[in-house]
Amino acid sequence: MRIAVTTQPLEKVRTGALVILLDEEGRAALPEHPALRGHVTAFARAVKSGKSRAEWFCTLEPSAGVATEHLLLDAAALTSNWMPGRERLKCAAARAVELCRKHSIARVAFALPTEGAEEFACAVLEGAALGDFSDTRFKSEAPKPERLRAEFVLPSPDNATKKALEGQLARKLAICEATNFARELVNAPSNVLTPEALAREARRIAPKRKKAKGAAPPVTILDEKQIRRQGYGLIDAVGRGSAHPPRLIVVRHRPPGKVARKAPHVVLLGKGICFDTGGLCVKPANSMHTMNGDMGGAGAVLGAMKAIVELKLPIRVTAIVPAATNAIDGEAYLPGNIVTSKSGKTVYVENTDAEGRLILADGIARAAEEKAEVLIDAATLTGAAQIALGPQYAALFTEDAELERVFREASARTGDDLWPLPFVREYESALAHPLADMNNIPSNGAPGGAIHAANFLKAFVPNGVRWAHLDMSAAARAKAKTRYINVGATGWGVRLLVEAVEALARDAS
Ligand code: BES
Ligand code: ZN
Ligand code: ZN
Repeated sequence: MRIAVTTQPLEKVRTGALVILLDEEGRAALPEHPALRGHVTAFARAVKSGKSRAEWFCTLEPSAGVATEHLLLDAAALTSNWMPGRERLKCAAARAVELCRKHSIARVAFALPTEGAEEFACAVLEGAALGDFSDTRFKSEAPKPERLRAEFVLPSPDNATKKALEGQLARKLAICEATNFARELVNAPSNVLTPEALAREARRIAPKRKKAKGAAPPVTILDEKQIRRQGYGLIDAVGRGSAHPPRLIVVRHRPPGKVARKAPHVVLLGKGICFDTGGLCVKPANSMHTMNGDMGGAGAVLGAMKAIVELKLPIRVTAIVPAATNAIDGEAYLPGNIVTSKSGKTVYVENTDAEGRLILADGIARAAEEKAEVLIDAATLTGAAQIALGPQYAALFTEDAELERVFREASARTGDDLWPLPFVREYESALAHPLADMNNIPSNGAPGGAIHAANFLKAFVPNGVRWAHLDMSAAARAKAKTRYINVGATGWGVRLLVEAVEALARDAS
């Protein structure tokens, strides 16, 4: 998607379709030109009286004296009023672009209102960029759609406003493209996106700077031998049953110039299971095929990192992705194996399908070595989180009140939905085992699986590290279109993590 800001009068904007979105009261960014104004007021009246649907597309006569060929009016902001206004605007923008695409129009201009133009434009851009995502990489015949070109029409010809808006839109576009990058990662099948391929993607998004003397490099990737030799026993155990060996990926963002002095070092840790067969505790066939998306946490973390690097956020951030394929061959780990983790704790593997918490436990050990001050993990960890919150929400676990506030605010702003679930102290004993330090599942088959998984991870987080855990197994992939996100990988978490990291940088400055 390409974007531009213009201050031309609406009737002069030469574009495929001029899009005017009505706000909550049925008002639009009312154009001066009588032909356009006439259309808008007639449409607004028709919608208000229930005589028109929420969207309306028309072709303008050249005699109307308007440069655009088509006019698209949308009153989606009037409908589904339970949704926050920002989300409604995103839906409306996505629908507008979808309608334009149906008419083979790839060039659109959005009229901005006089008040709150920046907020409005950012929401519109987000809806357009995310709504227009389509993944045709694996279709042999699908033509590549023409790149969308969106113009934003400011009602006042003020240069400072234009400059500020261009900056905000560039930021938003970087985040949306990073979200779509994550969606491509999550959609990719496991014969394409192996742990090695995921490591290649990580290298591509890493900062392009030379290693400074004494400083850590922008990327470190451990192969299966290094993983084993350096004692990441849990990543080794999970990854050893596949012909595609595991990787431990570390990407470091060290901002050039000034870093807010008190800004903490943030580590983003993402579950990178490129395919989850369940291992010897094999999953049933009907749902197994979707388990290429079990690296949704890695997608969210690498997507966020891509944007963080591009936006040069003034805070140190490290992304860690343990990547493995949980498969079955003669080398595969077996139920009942006892494995020593990087931290030294031993784990009894009662269930090889509870593999995410195992690789994450070693990832947490790596985060401690990288001297994390704030640790955020994102993982498609449990089916139980899905049962608790349904197909759209992720579960947030944290005992840090500040992080809870940051994440809930970031969620409300971005539309990446989440809701808190508790750690329950009384449940911790369910993970005890007579032979090892811990069991990887509650041996009594207790319900509340998302909480047990969170409790398991908690045992590995060092004291003093501020930690939040996101169980996003449902949110990573949409079975049906939700708002402006089509079926398939959602990119859930990218916008959320970037927004949260920005808030942490801001709070410290
Ligand atoms: N990758 C799954 C969780 C999952 C389920 C993600 C559905 C996306 C959609 C995870 O590794 C898993 O299998 N968890 C088990 C844990 C159980 C064996 C304790 C689960 O939730 O059933
Ligand atoms: Zn599993
Ligand atoms: Zn899994």
